[in-house]
Amino acid sequence: MFSRFKKPDSNDARPSLRPVTAAAAPAAAPAASAAAAPPKPMLAQRPASVPATPEAAAAEKEKKRKERLMELKVELHKKLLESLNLAALEHATEANLKAEIADITSEALSEMSVALNKEDRATLNQELYDEVMGLGPLEPLLKDETVSDILVNGPYRVFVERGGKLTLSDVTFKDERHLLRIIDKIVSAVGRRVDESNPYCDARLADGSRFNCMVPPVAVDGSLVSIRKFKKDKLGIADLVRFGAFTEEMAAYLQAAVSTRLNIIVSGGTGSGKTTTLNALSSFIDNTERVLTIEDTAELQLQQVHVGRMESRPPNVEGKGAVTQRDCLRNALRMRPDRIIVGETRGEEVIDMLQAMNTGHDGSMTTIHANNARDGISRLENMVAMAGIEMPLKAVRSQIASAVNLIVQASRLQDGSRRMVSITEITGMEGEVISMQEIFRYERLGVEPSGKIIGRFNATGVRSHYSERFRQWGYDLPPSIYEPIV
Ligand SMILES: Nc1ncnc2c1ncn2[C@@H]1O[C@H](COP(=O)(O)OP(=O)(O)OP(=O)(O)O)[C@@H](O)[C@H]1O
Ligand SMILES: [Mg+2]
Repeated sequence: MFSRFKKPDSNDARPSLRPVTAAAAPAAAPAASAAAAPPKPMLAQRPASVPATPEAAAAEKEKKRKERLMELKVELHKKLLESLNLAALEHATEANLKAEIADITSEALSEMSVALNKEDRATLNQELYDEVMGLGPLEPLLKDETVSDILVNGPYRVFVERGGKLTLSDVTFKDERHLLRIIDKIVSAVGRRVDESNPYCDARLADGSRFNCMVPPVAVDGSLVSIRKFKKDKLGIADLVRFGAFTEEMAAYLQAAVSTRLNIIVSGGTGSGKTTTLNALSSFIDNTERVLTIEDTAELQLQQVHVGRMESRPPNVEGKGAVTQRDCLRNALRMRPDRIIVGETRGEEVIDMLQAMNTGHDGSMTTIHANNARDGISRLENMVAMAGIEMPLKAVRSQIASAVNLIVQASRLQDGSRRMVSITEITGMEGEVISMQEIFRYERLGVEPSGKIIGRFNATGVRSHYSERFRQWGYDLPPSIYEPIV
């Protein structure tokens, strides 16, 4: 009686785009049927219609159940949109709306002569609620506290990151149109639009999560979405020490560095923990200081009382009204800040950032995208050059050398763990070259069979260039923290 919702042949359901899970992978056919079957082609087969193992059978059953629920959901969603008073939704409480949805679906299901067990009915009602009020299939992932990133590669592949590891989730969209509808819901809520002529967009979700999307035809195999979930309780220094991101000695050193107003750059690759580190470092800033933060998407959560947050803005649909990070930064300099924190320096704002660091706003911090401290300096040089400033390289370098005191390198290792792999001080110029000294580093010692990386943090034996400054400010670090373990 479900023929209306069932695909004629379940094997044809989006086979080319859907990943074949290990459990559903073709299993060796039983000997009897193998004998009767026509010769098999060499290429890998679709899942056998009669799965050989109980696990495969269960997976197949679950897949069918999901497909059936998805079909029902589409049908019921249409009915809901027809029956619900959309204008009244805004004022309805969650409980009322859920009850309403349950009523309408139950009526519709009996009209369609569809019987569902309690569990399926509850799943369906929740998914419909998410579809109407939230972001559809993304909703459970957004609610799941263990998920830190959601990466959508077209409608049938949604990856999630948990504990530093990326895995394929079992969440799917009905099709590209469904995915586009959800994207549209997100971007229209922030007054933006994506279409063929504006194929990508950055936005912030209502819960503060960072969102980016790119739609076809620029995204070739279906829309691409990435969401960096907003963590309500950002990891603090103590958490990072506990997770092994750095040691207590390094934390003590960083405390001295932030408190004595060194200018710090957190460098690292994408998703390596730069923003988290910057946020944790900001906890060492004194409560009496006036801090201004500038970001493309406001992620930092400073604990101080006197904090002014700014967020840059892209141009609107007519290409007007853009407010760049540089605009914010220039304005910030007139707002009497003690410190300025720029979420990520990636363009022309580098000039103003360096100037701010050089002219009385010491103790400023930012992040850059680079693989090590040297690389970080080159990135800064390139950004200055790209901003169209005609200055000899030596002059640019001496600007950088006098502006930046410390580069903290964050890294996401192959096993998914995030560590502060190096803390490097900038000590000045030697001829045309910026001189640096590494104080702490992470040493890799090997890999466990499970893939977990074995390593340790170590001091390099070099005493901080800023030891005297630390001492004068009352941060008398014991010399032992600079001594390496051999
Ligand atoms: N040491 C750590 N241990 C565990 N999780 C961490 C650690 N550092 C960061 N994370 C988590 O990793 C994710 C990425 O961190 P974060 O946003 O700080 O990276 P990022 O380098 O700023 O990324 P992007 O380049 O996208 O801006 C976050 O979910 C964060 O909570
Ligand atoms: Mg970041």
